[in-house]
Amino acid sequence: MNRLRNRVVIITGAAGGMGKSEAILFAQEGAKVLATDNQFEKLDKWVSEAQKEKLTIECITHDVTSEASWKKVTDKAIKLYGKIDILVNNAGVYPFNGSCDNTDKALWDKVIAINLTGPFLGVKAVIPYMKKNKQGVIVNVSSIAGMVGGNGAAYTASKGGLRLLTKDLAVEYAKDNIRVNSLHPGGVLTPMTEGMVKGAGMKEMIKSTSPQGRMADPIELANAALFLASPESSFMTGAELVVDGGAVAR
Ligand SMILES: NC(=O)c1ccc[n+]([C@@H]2O[C@H](COP(=O)([O-])OP(=O)(O)OC[C@H]3O[C@@H](n4cnc5c(N)ncnc54)[C@H](O)[C@@H]3O)[C@@H](O)[C@H]2O)c1
Repeated sequence: MNRLRNRVVIITGAAGGMGKSEAILFAQEGAKVLATDNQFEKLDKWVSEAQKEKLTIECITHDVTSEASWKKVTDKAIKLYGKIDILVNNAGVYPFNGSCDNTDKALWDKVIAINLTGPFLGVKAVIPYMKKNKQGVIVNVSSIAGMVGGNGAAYTASKGGLRLLTKDLAVEYAKDNIRVNSLHPGGVLTPMTEGMVKGAGMKEMIKSTSPQGRMADPIELANAALFLASPESSFMTGAELVVDGGAVAR
């Protein structure tokens, strides 16, 4: 409890999956959370329930690809809570069957816009507030697809780009006491993967690619994001935290 006491956190892509888990866990740890997503109805529904549990969570509709939308998010965080301490760039999309042959330019542009340009715009939006506070933490949710190939052209490029963007930001902002790290999940059971998991032969595929033989529960990733967001990781910046049941260790 209280590992993020009074920390103001923006978490994108929080309508479900990992983002929702992170938002609830961070609030349980004392944070004041602004949860965002472009699926606002879905987001608002669970946030209303969480507020009844006395968790400090508010929400706002958000398109991470739009600078104007980011401005509304930071304005709301400042209006609600007066500062911004932590940003979790969690929103993302995964195109199934996204091999290079199956990827037209429109799909490429969409995936890069959400998974890579979105976090870049988010960093630009929050950095002035973090500099003013003389502290900040950014967690970029990449993927093991940002480390090894085989997960589709645009997705792999976007998550690999986010991995290295993280390192550049870490170097650039260390002098401002702002830490930036990337989180690299393997397979996690979320709305993003639920359709895929039901597919024929998936159980066998998961067993053969993950040494632990299973997918993660979102809370297992939220716990890792909490570690990166909290002072417990104070000497980590520009680092990659892999949480994948051993998949890239093979
Ligand atoms: N589930 C996995 O196996 C897995 C593995 C590795 C990495 N990841 C990454 O973890 C993150 C969270 O994914 P998840 O598995 O919880 O999936 P999810 O689909 O539940 O969550 C992603 C959220 O991003 C939101 N989003 C999409 N486009 C947006 C936009 N333009 N603006 C604002 N929000 C937008 C979606 O509405 C959704 O709620 C993603 O970045 C994903 O790439 C997931």
